[in-house]
Amino acid sequence: MPLINEQARIVENECVGPRLYLMVLESPQIAKTIKPGQFVHVRIPGMPDHILRRPFSVYAANPATNTIDILYQTVGYGTDFMTTLTPDSASLSVVEVLGPVGRCWMPPEHVKRALLVGGGVGAAPLYMLAEQLVKAQVHTDVVLGAQTEQALVCRGRYEVLLSSHEADVVAPLCSTDDGSYGRAGFATSLVAEALESAAQAARPYDYVAVCGPEPLMRAVAELCAGANVYCEVSMERRMACGIGACLSCVVETTDGKLRACVDGPVFDATKVVW
Ligand SMILES: Cc1cc2nc3c(=O)[nH]c(=O)nc-3n(C[C@H](O)[C@H](O)[C@H](O)COP(=O)(O)OP(=O)(O)OC[C@H]3O[C@@H](n4cnc5c(N)ncnc54)[C@H](O)[C@@H]3O)c2cc1C
Ligand code: FES
Repeated sequence: MPLINEQARIVENECVGPRLYLMVLESPQIAKTIKPGQFVHVRIPGMPDHILRRPFSVYAANPATNTIDILYQTVGYGTDFMTTLTPDSASLSVVEVLGPVGRCWMPPEHVKRALLVGGGVGAAPLYMLAEQLVKAQVHTDVVLGAQTEQALVCRGRYEVLLSSHEADVVAPLCSTDDGSYGRAGFATSLVAEALESAAQAARPYDYVAVCGPEPLMRAVAELCAGANVYCEVSMERRMACGIGACLSCVVETTDGKLRACVDGPVFDATKVVW
C-alpha cells in the first residue's frame, strides 16, 4: 500500500482523561486503507522550531465519515502543542498526516481465541484489531491496565464492542495501579490468570497482542513464551523519518536490527531482544 500524505481537518480535539486527548481527523484516504496496528506520522502546524513529525497509532477508522481517531497522551512539546489545535482555528485546524505506516497486527490465520492486552494509551492501537477479531467471530478477551480509573478511557468502547459478541460475552478485565477500578496493581497478574484458566479449561488462547509500556510487553511476552502462545508486541521508538531511511528507530531482534517504522511497529514477541 503506497503512503498517502493528506491534509487532515481537525474535527474534534477533546480532553478525555488525565493528560489524554482524543483527536478526530478528516482523512478520507487513510480512513479507507489503514489496517489495525498501523500508524500515521503527523506534522503538527505552528511548530516551526520542531519540524519532525510525531507518530501516532490509529485508534479507530471510520470510512463512512472519512475520519480517523487518535488517542494521545501529553508527554512533551509536540503533544502539549497538539492540545491547542482546534477545529475552529483559522491557521491551526489542519494537520498533515502521512500513512498508513508500518506492519499491522498479524494474528494466525485460523485464530480461535485471542487475548488483547493494553497498558495505558496502548489500549488504543488494539481497538481496531479487536473490531476485526470480533467481526471474524474470534473469541476475544481484553485486559486493560491504567494508573487510575479516569485513565481507563478506552474501557467504554471495548465494553460496547465486546457486548456485540453473539456468545461468550466477557467485559474487559481491568486493573489500576491505585486500585480505583478493577484489580489493584499491574495488568500482568490478570494476564497470567487468563492464560492459566484458559489452559486449564482446555481452551487455550492461540494469539496474544500487547501494546503499552515496555516492561508490560516484556512481562506478557515471557508469560506467553511460558504458555506456548503466539504473541505480538507493538514497539514504540523515537522516530525521525518514519519511512525506513534514517535508522533512528531500530529494535534489536533475533533477526538483527530492524526498523520500528517499516519492519514494525508490530513484531513477533519471541524475536525481540528486550
Ligand atoms: C508507532 C508509534 C505509535 C504511537 N502511538 C501513540 C498513540 O497512539 N498515542 C500516544 O499518546 N503516543 C503514541 N506514540 C508516542 C508518541 O509518538 C510520542 O509520545 C510523541 O511523539 C511525543 O512527542 P512530544 O513532542 O510531545 O515529545 P518530546 O518533547 O519529543 O519528548 C517528550 C518525551 O517523550 C518521549 N518520546 C518522544 N517520542 C517518542 C516516541 N516516538 N515513542 C516513545 N517515547 C517518545 C521522549 O523520550 C521524552 O521522554 C507512538 C509512538 C510510536 C513510535
Ligand atoms: S524513523 Fe527513520 S528509519 Fe524509522
